[in-house]
Amino acid sequence: MSATTFSFPTRTLFGAGALNDLPAGLKTLGVRRPLVVIDSGLLTTDAFRALAAVLGANGQGASWFLYSGVHPNPVEADVREAAAAFRENNCDGVIALGGGSPLDVGKAARLLAKRPAFDLRKFYDEPEWTGLAPFVAIPTTAGTGSEVGRSSVIILDATKRKAVLFHPELLAKLVILDPELTRGLPPKLTAATGADALTHCIESYTCPAFHPMCDGIALEGVRLIVDALPRAYKNGGDLDARGKMLVAAAMGAVAFQKDLGVVHSLAHPLSTICGMHHGLANALCLVASMRFCAARKPGLYRRVGIACGLDVMKCSHTEADAQTIAFIAEFLKGLGLQSKLRDQGVNPEQLDALVAQAVDDPCHKTNAVPVTKEDLRSLYLEVL
Ligand SMILES: [Fe+2]
Repeated sequence: MSATTFSFPTRTLFGAGALNDLPAGLKTLGVRRPLVVIDSGLLTTDAFRALAAVLGANGQGASWFLYSGVHPNPVEADVREAAAAFRENNCDGVIALGGGSPLDVGKAARLLAKRPAFDLRKFYDEPEWTGLAPFVAIPTTAGTGSEVGRSSVIILDATKRKAVLFHPELLAKLVILDPELTRGLPPKLTAATGADALTHCIESYTCPAFHPMCDGIALEGVRLIVDALPRAYKNGGDLDARGKMLVAAAMGAVAFQKDLGVVHSLAHPLSTICGMHHGLANALCLVASMRFCAARKPGLYRRVGIACGLDVMKCSHTEADAQTIAFIAEFLKGLGLQSKLRDQGVNPEQLDALVAQAVDDPCHKTNAVPVTKEDLRSLYLEVL
């Protein structure tokens, strides 16, 4: 058996009102002049107002600074501008508030704050990234789990492609999961981001690497999502459901340090080529992909079904998979996530480009069963 790394290191404050503990957390980290990183859409939200209130006043006279230029799909300029703001204001830490994009920029800005002229294309030639400024992550969506991840996805200027910067030093020193900050998320986004978290849990559990700790976390994540996501979708003010979704999203991302699978390889091109929301893209590809995997590895989803509350302990492999997949299909339908790709603006003429990018995507290499180029094409055609 080859050596495997198990890492669950992020300090996390959880609960309604946990944001109020931020000043104490900053003090513990020795941060006195934090740079806050957000996207412009957050400026007018209750979540940002709550953060500003906790940090003190509206920035005037207070020792914190703001970078609000993050793009929905973060580009290198976001990272460079945030790093420049960090240096100009003599900041000593970064707080990122928002969905996955501000969190990814906040993580990476510390690299260029330390080495302004650094060429990010050479990131993997430079393994010594110790001594980065402390990073605090505060998610306002429950989906990507970027707050507990050690990677940052940025579109680089030179290549115009998404680069995954992965390094343990990118990890947050503190994560705050406060359901008060996600109560304003509209139902559609609640459903789509939640479907991303569900896909993380299912794909990481079923990918074949040996990682029983992640497996346990992934299955409990499924159980939490099945319980909480419909409630958060129907009633955004249900703080119990919002809290459970925040934890489940973080669990999904902890679990996928094990790896992901074919659903994410199908979903990534749908975002880069067709501009589709990542969670929605996963949701629309999940059921067909589960059928594909179960046909080649019967019984794959039995324990996922048990985590969903189904009585599939003793039935045949085929029956356990069928019941679990039917449950997930109904679950997504109840969240309004059952349309075809073409209903979301995908043009059949884009199929070749989608397949070409999906083949290059690394996620399917760790799928539960092997995936060929033709398999990817058939799966797209099934959901098109
Ligand atoms: Fe994802």
